[in-house]
Amino acid sequence: MKKITKVLALALSAALLLPAFAGCSNDDASNSGTEDGEKEKLVIATNAEFPPFEFVVEKDKGIVGEYDGIDIVLMKEIADKLDMELEVSNMMFDSIIGAVSSGKADLAVAGMTVDEERLESLDFTDTYWSAVQTILVSKDNTDITNVESLSGKTVGVVTGYTGDTALSEIEAEKNITLKRYTKGVDAVQELVNGKIDAAVIDSPTAESFIKENPEIKGVTDDEFFATEEYAIGVKKGNTELLEKVNAALKEIKEAGRIEEIAAEVDARLQ
Ligand code: ARG
Repeated sequence: MKKITKVLALALSAALLLPAFAGCSNDDASNSGTEDGEKEKLVIATNAEFPPFEFVVEKDKGIVGEYDGIDIVLMKEIADKLDMELEVSNMMFDSIIGAVSSGKADLAVAGMTVDEERLESLDFTDTYWSAVQTILVSKDNTDITNVESLSGKTVGVVTGYTGDTALSEIEAEKNITLKRYTKGVDAVQELVNGKIDAAVIDSPTAESFIKENPEIKGVTDDEFFATEEYAIGVKKGNTELLEKVNAALKEIKEAGRIEEIAAEVDARLQ
């Protein structure tokens, strides 16, 4: 009882003293977040459901917290070059662009394909990876050989991914039934269980899913699916950050690190 009173009294006096201390703080708005000895944060918005670019591992076993992947390593190296501290903000893929354009995160780093529509909402760095969409089907499937043959089939896509956008355009015309998932792994599970006929996702992620599920295989259609380029998204008009990230990215690319990082991540995924 006595102890509690003492604690209360202490808390009360601390509360009374606080306003006095607040007045002599050294902080001002212009250097918030950069107190002495503390690095400025670089917050990336991602959706860590996209191996080998970003995925969740055990707590503290990742490159940053529980996060690993090509994008995470790449961003860690960019942040180091900028003398900043990398923070990963994991969210729905659909929320990434809004998070960056509203300033909740600094960069969109999510194996994100640059396209016309996204260029209206964000600015993008130089590209760092090329991919194409892959149609995943069961290994013994022989009738799905291209997009044309998806006619009359049920096809899984991930909401808001470029695969979703591309197939949504021909869904009605080709009589395709699209099923939308929030994670690629869920679409793959449904494919493995025979609930859908195919699933469409970026080639590197497709390969990663094939490795884990020997009962599926990938089919490509170069005539329908264009090559996609991944880049890092920045809030529109933030040229200062864009230029800094581009300079660091350039050094990393020129040193041949992207391929090395991919090989390292691949080895960890085994
Ligand atoms: N490249 C595709 C796109 O831009 C898929 C990206 C998915 N990325 C992720 N981290 N979940 O739409």
